[in-house]
Amino acid sequence: MMKWGREAQKRLQAIAEVSEPGPGVTRFPFTPEHSRARDMIAGWMTDAGMKVQLDTATTLIGRREGPKGAPTFLIGSHQDSVRSGGAYDGIMGIALGCLAVEKLAANHVDLPFAVEVLAFADEEGVRFPTALLGPRALAGTWDPAVLEMTDRADIRLADALDAAGGSSAALARLARAPGDVLGYLEAHIEQGPVLEVQDQAIGVVTGICGIERNTVTISGQTGHAGTVPMEMRADALVTAARLIADVEALARETEGVLATVGCIDCAPNVVNAIPSRCSLTIEIRSADDDARQSFSMRVIEVANKLAKDRSTPVALAKTYEQNASACDPRLVGKLHGAAKNLAPDAPLFPSGATHDASAMADLCPIAMLFVRCKGGISHSPDEYASAEDMGVAVEVMAGFLADL
Ligand code: HGY
Ligand code: MN
Ligand code: MN
Repeated sequence: MMKWGREAQKRLQAIAEVSEPGPGVTRFPFTPEHSRARDMIAGWMTDAGMKVQLDTATTLIGRREGPKGAPTFLIGSHQDSVRSGGAYDGIMGIALGCLAVEKLAANHVDLPFAVEVLAFADEEGVRFPTALLGPRALAGTWDPAVLEMTDRADIRLADALDAAGGSSAALARLARAPGDVLGYLEAHIEQGPVLEVQDQAIGVVTGICGIERNTVTISGQTGHAGTVPMEMRADALVTAARLIADVEALARETEGVLATVGCIDCAPNVVNAIPSRCSLTIEIRSADDDARQSFSMRVIEVANKLAKDRSTPVALAKTYEQNASACDPRLVGKLHGAAKNLAPDAPLFPSGATHDASAMADLCPIAMLFVRCKGGISHSPDEYASAEDMGVAVEVMAGFLADL
């Protein structure tokens, strides 16, 4: 077991170097860092005896053949990171998937199905204001409009994809026939404190939260900070401050809903002028779609009242939405069963973070395995998972596949 955990740690430390300069890991999709990471991952797949190919969404696919005409079981996660992120988020699931397949091959275990390990390009949605193009292409749920989205350097997603070895014109052909796919398993660092608090190496995920993201634009009136009386102002940034405080207070009193204002910009953004424009993001998450949608309605009411009271129009535009996804009860049972020897008290709980699995749920039954996360810290250079815990995860994943 430790052999697999140590190999996972070695691989993850090595690929963590494939990053833009700066603290932690910064590896965005369709970049030179992404291409270099693909080369490393291709080596992991080859070591596991898999054939390697790149699909037109630049998902790197390692395939272990099964009996002729047999369906395929998919394992995967994402190669990209947030800016200054950790060495485990996403990439761990790819590394552990390759090692689980390698372990089965080393033990000459035959399976009645084929297995593919998928290294998706973009789950974080940091470079472009969209995400999950790879899994959504496989599920046939991707939106062609995303190809026109641009990054901060004004590069179109389609152009970045094509330049990185993909083909924006051929994405529609990637959709898998549901009958060909048995299911999808994603191993992922927990990104929270539950497993550490319960002193458990791994946990089994019951479902993934729903998410809604909005861009909010607030329009005011600029003016000289020294000459415009307070009662004559239409200060966009103060309206934003009120809205941010109201959204936070609303979320604190609403059971099961999390709301976050993660980004804010204002103009002209100078010390001695009244802000005339402000834009911010509001993200709402919940395991309960109805609760999330009614919370969203309350945010709109609060925004409209502030706009009226403060004579600063507020416009909300929804930029992203995914419903909550339940993990498949049969696969959850099989995963929990595979854990019974090494982690008999492995807890079952929902994921507050979203994952590629949320998009794969539109194609096939999904399951997720969480690995203990030191201090619950993620999206940070301090993110850490131990070789021991990853060794347990590899054993459980291999046992799960052998028992499917
Ligand atoms: O936002 C998330 O939950 C994921 O880390 N991308
Ligand atoms: Mn992730
Ligand atoms: Mn993440």
